[in-house]
Amino acid sequence: MSNAPVYEIEHSRFTADPYPDLAAMRERAPIAYVPQLDATLITRRDDIAVNEKRTDVFSSEQPQGLMTQLMGENLMRKDGRAHMDERRAIYPSMSPQTVREVWAAQFRSDTDAVLDTLASTHRADLFWTYAMPTSGRALCAMTGLTNMDADEMNRVSQGMIDGCANYIGDPAVEAHCHDCTAAIDRSIDEQLPIVTANPDHSLLSVQLQAGLSDAQIRANVKLAISGGQNEPRDAIAGAIWALLTHPEQLALVLAGKVSWLQVFEEYARWISPIGMSPRRVAQTHTYEGVTFEPEDRVFLMFSSGNRDERHFDAPDRFDVTRDISGNLSFGAGPHYCAGAWASRELIAEVALPRFFERVVNPRLDGEVPFSGWAFRGPLALPCAWGGVRS
Ligand code: HEM
Repeated sequence: MSNAPVYEIEHSRFTADPYPDLAAMRERAPIAYVPQLDATLITRRDDIAVNEKRTDVFSSEQPQGLMTQLMGENLMRKDGRAHMDERRAIYPSMSPQTVREVWAAQFRSDTDAVLDTLASTHRADLFWTYAMPTSGRALCAMTGLTNMDADEMNRVSQGMIDGCANYIGDPAVEAHCHDCTAAIDRSIDEQLPIVTANPDHSLLSVQLQAGLSDAQIRANVKLAISGGQNEPRDAIAGAIWALLTHPEQLALVLAGKVSWLQVFEEYARWISPIGMSPRRVAQTHTYEGVTFEPEDRVFLMFSSGNRDERHFDAPDRFDVTRDISGNLSFGAGPHYCAGAWASRELIAEVALPRFFERVVNPRLDGEVPFSGWAFRGPLALPCAWGGVRS
């Protein structure tokens, strides 16, 4: 175990709001061992950026890790050449060019179809009726699992995320995760002959075209589902809430004084959908006076780095005019989010502007609770509105 100073947390308080503890850690013990998580947390922005690149020390290979055990060994749990080969194989599905030329139009027509469904009412929970289906439809298209609908995509994604966070080994959570991965495998079985006959830009097809093995293809599709549904969903719902609770910020973007991309990136800095990424220590290493030992569990706290006072003035404030360069919302090293370009297009070019263009006078219509430290977002978004423009 590392000899990092110990910092104790109260787990339910940390889950309800991790930011006060993270600020205290940045101040008093920027690299701290947290017994309640049995991990050493790295909390300052520059320390995270430096160490995420040291894959020889902070490895993503976790053969005994829950994600590998439950979902198969995917590219996010590999380092070096093996990792880069699979990144290269999926790139044609997620590149800026493919996003622009293939997915942008799909995202727009799917999102408009979701907005059409809101025209028949004047209030609803937009977490479930806008953010979730908008994210789900995009992921069905990008993965190639067009035989799944958004509800099922959301169900299997959540089931796998719960399985990967099931550190207490709850058998019901594990069984549900297996049910979800089996459902994805059945969906892949149906789609494989179709994309073999008609190759396209989907994740399923480009991996097939690159000659990856069946196990690699399935593991990486499950990875994209586990990391590509909740994050856009939470960012869409969270950013709408942030703008409705900060009308002066909403006025700036509606007046074209700031871009929707600035709004999205500032939201993802302020409340990071992925707050943490785990690493396994591969060799003894000393950094800033802390010695890490092999097999230590280390958490790179992106959410904390995104509120590091050394980089962001008044970091706890939502400010769409601030300079967000240096943020860690999509990571900061070789595992930088492969879906970053697709997410920016979906959220900043489509989901947020189309919502505020088409929905008349949206306003909150109830409580919006937030939760989570490893993954963080709203749990609901009750809203009312005056109508939906066509
Ligand atoms: C708001 C949206 C999103 C956020 C904030 C986000 C954030 C992240 C972060 C922080 C990582 C790095 C993890 C690490 O360093 O270990 C990551 C990796 C990844 N993300 Fe995303 N993500 C988002 C959306 C998506 C989407 C839509 C997809 C797929 C369609 C996706 C696919 C991936 C993949 C495949 C990786 C692994 C990359 C690698 O290991 O080389 N993400 N994401």
